[in-house]
Amino acid sequence: MNACTANAESTARNPISPLLSVVGLRKSYATPQGPLPVLAGVDLSLAAGGTLALMGESGSGKSTLLHLIGALDDADGGAIFIDGVNICRLSEAARAGLRRETVGFVFQQFNLIASLTVAENLAFQARLAGRFDPLWQERLTDRLGLAALESRYPEELSGGQQQRVAVGRALAVRPKLLLADEPTGNLDEAAGDAVLALTLDLVAETGCAFLMVTHSARLAARLERRVVLEAGALASA
Ligand SMILES: Nc1ncnc2c1ncn2[C@@H]1O[C@H](COP(=O)(O)OP(=O)(O)O)[C@@H](O)[C@H]1O
Ligand SMILES: [Mg+2]
Repeated sequence: MNACTANAESTARNPISPLLSVVGLRKSYATPQGPLPVLAGVDLSLAAGGTLALMGESGSGKSTLLHLIGALDDADGGAIFIDGVNICRLSEAARAGLRRETVGFVFQQFNLIASLTVAENLAFQARLAGRFDPLWQERLTDRLGLAALESRYPEELSGGQQQRVAVGRALAVRPKLLLADEPTGNLDEAAGDAVLALTLDLVAETGCAFLMVTHSARLAARLERRVVLEAGALASA
């Protein structure tokens, strides 16, 4: 093993190196008018267990950035390291594994499965990943205030209740990184506050890192750090 390899390996295992590191990330979309540049060299770093709010005007590329970090789309250039591994270089099978086991995603529109009950939705991803843990599921159900709703279907729930199920579904696999794209955007203030408070409690309990897109400066203030996406790059808020 040469010195360079040894160095790269020790960096990947270093507990104080960031869980997530985005370096010079670039992405444009093809449009009939030509390429539309959205991310023009984004740098970002998030420690294991850290919490970060991503802000920026509508259309600034927040969802694009989250989708790239969650391996839901491909970048044009730059790198995304999760736990020291550049996920842009992984095979499609490895990227699918990352989406199943390492990164949890919560969407503004909840995206629950309409034909499954609350309990089945909660367990869905963990079962897919082979990580279903009945004790953890029970604890999540209790902590998220869903015990009395377990046999209901998504259409029988309020928006806030649906989003609590979505948070539980994402955390059931014990991901290292939880990504949330405007998770309170469809909720009234009280329901949004409750969802974020529960999410932050569970994030702290599991030690996973949390990256949340939000338009609300009030909610962003509850996370440890804030960054703003502007003209394709990030600035501190
Ligand atoms: N699949 C796509 N094809 C073409 N343009 C897109 C696509 N997805 C997003 N865009 C454009 O990229 C820009 C950034 O979008 P997005 O990441 O959704 O922003 P935000 O989440 O900050 O509102 C917008 O101008 C949007 O219209
Ligand atoms: Mg968006």
